[in-house]
Amino acid sequence: MIESELIWHNGEFVAWEDAKVHVLTHGLHYGTGVFEGIRCYETERGSAIFRHLDHLQRLERSASLYYMDLPYSVEQLRSATHELISRNGLASCYIRPIAYRGYGHMGLNPLEAPVDVSIAVWPWGNYLGEEGTRNGIRAKVSSWERIGSRSLIPQAKASGQYLNSVLAKIESVKAGYDEAILLDEHGNVVEGSGENVFAVRDGVISTPPISSAILDGINRRSVVQIARDLGYSVVERVVARTDLYLADEVFLTGTAAELVPVREIDDHAIGTGKPGEITLVLQRAFQDALYGRNERYLEWLDLIEVGLADRQKAAG
Ligand SMILES: Cc1ncc(COP(=O)(O)O)c(C=O)c1O
Repeated sequence: MIESELIWHNGEFVAWEDAKVHVLTHGLHYGTGVFEGIRCYETERGSAIFRHLDHLQRLERSASLYYMDLPYSVEQLRSATHELISRNGLASCYIRPIAYRGYGHMGLNPLEAPVDVSIAVWPWGNYLGEEGTRNGIRAKVSSWERIGSRSLIPQAKASGQYLNSVLAKIESVKAGYDEAILLDEHGNVVEGSGENVFAVRDGVISTPPISSAILDGINRRSVVQIARDLGYSVVERVVARTDLYLADEVFLTGTAAELVPVREIDDHAIGTGKPGEITLVLQRAFQDALYGRNERYLEWLDLIEVGLADRQKAAG
């Protein structure tokens, strides 16, 4: 059960149990919403949201790809989130802003329906579990193809698109695996159900390019930069299914899962069947970045400023 005290909804702070929508909300029927998954970490400098602006800008881009004008600016959403986290008294949390077509119009043309915006924050542990983060997870290549750009918009983080991830996730869990890895229309690897994927072979790190049907993951970008800063060679290229089986190491990145080693895919052990050396180096360096332990990446942290919203209001 996820729980917290207050939710931000269309500019107001409302009690968690009162944050409800009408059953004829457009987004509920047709998936016409866009959202983000963001994390706030308790660092030595205080609570800090990882790459907050990048996430909010992606939210804005996802909305625009679905012809949705957000009624709040990135800066308004940023300060609302700061205030929400401090009002809920959370030192660390998961953050879920969502903008969706609301109540008032039905039918497939959503342009007349209002755009509602909510932000929820709650404590949420590691998505794929502590054990998975430490020892690696088992993944299954899904029989479901990842949505492509001829039917949807892989680069948008839109609610309805997640039915694709949901089917893949259910299939993998029912078959006894932790996560699904999806292929594209050509049979090439694209990503996990909610994570980007990386393969390491002979010291070279490969990941599918953003021109493929992936979400342009913010953690993917961060890990690519960290890896390059550490002197590793990172190539964005087509990754075949067999590239995964034959890799020395495979790992996933995402806000919910962070950086998770994959120890087995389709019952093939990856490398030694344990988290690989490069994966562990990157996992440590990435954690250091998330928790503000590396000066070099401090600019990625948006420190929670209590009272920021009030000060902005006062300044007009
Ligand atoms: C389909 C999909 N791919 C990749 C990611 C990873 O993106 P990020 O690192 O920005 O969380 C996510 C999570 O948001 C996702 O849902």
